[in-house]
Amino acid sequence: MAERRKILVTSALPYANGPIHFGHIVGGYLPADIFVRFHRLKGSDVVYICGTDEHGVAITIAARKAGVLPQVLVDKYHRIIKDTFDRMQIRFDNFSRTSRPLNHELSQQFFLNLLKAGHISLKTERQLYDPVERMFLADRYVLGTCPRCGHGEARGDECPKCGAWLDALELVHPRSAVSGAAPEVRESRNWYLKLQDFQPRLEAWIRGKTGWKANVLRFVEAMFQTGLRERCITRDLDWGVQVPLPDAAGKVLYVWFDAPIGYISSTIEWARARGQPDAWQDYWQNPDCRLVHFLGKDNIPFHCVVFPAMLMGQPDPYILPDNVPANEFYNLQGDKFNTSRGWYIDFEDFLAKYPVDALRYALAASAPETRDTEFTWQDFQKRVNGELADTFGNLAMRTLKFIASQLDGRVPAPGPFDEADRALLERARGMTTTVGELYDTYRVRQAMETIMGLAHAANRYLSEKRPWATRKDDPLRCATAIFVCTEVLRTLALLFHPVMPGTTERLWSMLGMARPLAQQRWDTFADRPLAPGHAIGEPEGLFLKIDDETIAAEVTALGARAAGGDRRTTVEPTGVEPLRDNVGFEDFQKLDIRIGRVRAAEEMPKTKKLMRFVVDLGVETREIVAGIKGHYDPAALVGRRVVVLANLAPRQMMGVESRGMILAAETADGVPLLLHPDGEPLPGTPVH
Ligand code: MF3
Ligand code: ZN
Repeated sequence: MAERRKILVTSALPYANGPIHFGHIVGGYLPADIFVRFHRLKGSDVVYICGTDEHGVAITIAARKAGVLPQVLVDKYHRIIKDTFDRMQIRFDNFSRTSRPLNHELSQQFFLNLLKAGHISLKTERQLYDPVERMFLADRYVLGTCPRCGHGEARGDECPKCGAWLDALELVHPRSAVSGAAPEVRESRNWYLKLQDFQPRLEAWIRGKTGWKANVLRFVEAMFQTGLRERCITRDLDWGVQVPLPDAAGKVLYVWFDAPIGYISSTIEWARARGQPDAWQDYWQNPDCRLVHFLGKDNIPFHCVVFPAMLMGQPDPYILPDNVPANEFYNLQGDKFNTSRGWYIDFEDFLAKYPVDALRYALAASAPETRDTEFTWQDFQKRVNGELADTFGNLAMRTLKFIASQLDGRVPAPGPFDEADRALLERARGMTTTVGELYDTYRVRQAMETIMGLAHAANRYLSEKRPWATRKDDPLRCATAIFVCTEVLRTLALLFHPVMPGTTERLWSMLGMARPLAQQRWDTFADRPLAPGHAIGEPEGLFLKIDDETIAAEVTALGARAAGGDRRTTVEPTGVEPLRDNVGFEDFQKLDIRIGRVRAAEEMPKTKKLMRFVVDLGVETREIVAGIKGHYDPAALVGRRVVVLANLAPRQMMGVESRGMILAAETADGVPLLLHPDGEPLPGTPVH
């Protein structure tokens, strides 16, 4: 037998800066998981790789907002994101993290190789600088209008609307995302990747491609037209992969440099875990391996131009992607998903009420393959009730219950086939070829339509054949109809398996099959029909319908959550302290509580808990010591507003005179949570 086809599948590494939503799943993960499950049935040798993207300004901004260290943030979201993938039955062979030492080392090696080959240059060039916060504004630290499409919220490195890869200096009306100030232009020394060195090879490679999506080709073609130039690949940040050179303190690699290398380091991790440490090379450095990157359209330039160029510039013979099936955007009930505004659906909550396969099917059937699409509760209801329950589930129940109750639980031997019998059987048998082609060419929506079309046709056939009526007078005709429908069901189980693995396995055992469906072979499936006399299992419903009130309640709940803002960052109280005795208003009035603004913060050495603050109280600036060391990143606190008890008598604490107290909530397990005013009151504003 020929060697099994090697396929390496990746899904874009999600930023570990927040939870993921339906749009992420439908864009880059579910289509990949379906492709992988399909190819496992085909007998291909597939490895499916992912992990979290843990560097860059996406992370430092979120950490700063949450008032925690980047490491704390990425640890938390790595876990939460992995949990969502598990719930959604997205099954990676390895799920890594770009912050792991292996990825740091490999990224540094890539950088040094490119430098040695002359593809990286060192230059002192102009960069945007925030005069208020005194920092260079990398990437998302600066916002402005996109010079390509006019979108007002473009970031310093990319436009989330049109996907353009930008240089911060190109932004129209830039503003600092940290202070809001208009940035200055200052010089900084950085390393630049000479993409133009690779343009001829990139063009030749992409132009030789067939079967790429038109949107992807158009995008890349436009980049070639403009002409590739050198791009800055280092940043003045303290979070990320260090630039591996002696004179590069305070410089890290641009996140989009080390993130795609995460695909490789995740594969190496996988190989090591299997006890075959070199096995990753059979994929990444094997010209016969088919590499496919699944992602959303905003990731196109990095996967079709930048990463391929980085791979071309290595001394080792890396393969380039065979395809990059980028999806368009996915919305929720007419608006963009927005977790912080409450416009999202919580996976845990959703999956506690509805089966995961119903969601996988609804997402697959509405995937934004060629244009933006959306999730609506109404559409979900229609797909579950009309398609899954009334069409697919109904065919299964009608057929299997009939066999159980009328035919002793055994598949009957068919009589002679008439034209309708033959037509349906042939349609079913041809499906492994047609649907296989659709799955293989990333057309999942069309695959869903085609498969559901077969279920629909079989229901109609059953209604016309009326086996319940012919059972007595014409048992052979009855047997033929039931045999044909059982064959269709058997085929539907296979065809739907990549999308609804759990449900189809259930159907498979209802069909009385011993070996799991996942172990069947796609290519020989049609040639192995059920033997007459085969005993089926116990039939039971596949899908429950969802009633109108339930859907109406979901729509209302979504609107209410959006109106109330985000509620997901609550910290649960455990063991609440009893309330204390009343005090008079005069007593309260003795406390002078003010808004302060943190000017500086540092951890106090040789103390377990203490941090020293310089706080601006409007009228004066003073030092305050607070016991929050280890819970907050001092740098992230600078500029933040705090609530201060200003007239607490001064106290000496570890050699510092602390004048006042920064107020914080303290959880039952002793975690301090700083109070934060609504809006942006001036320092010194009184609190009553
Ligand atoms: N984290 C990026 C995003 O969410 C995707 C990174 S893909 C990788 O847009 F290739 F860089 F890993
Ligand atoms: Zn744009």
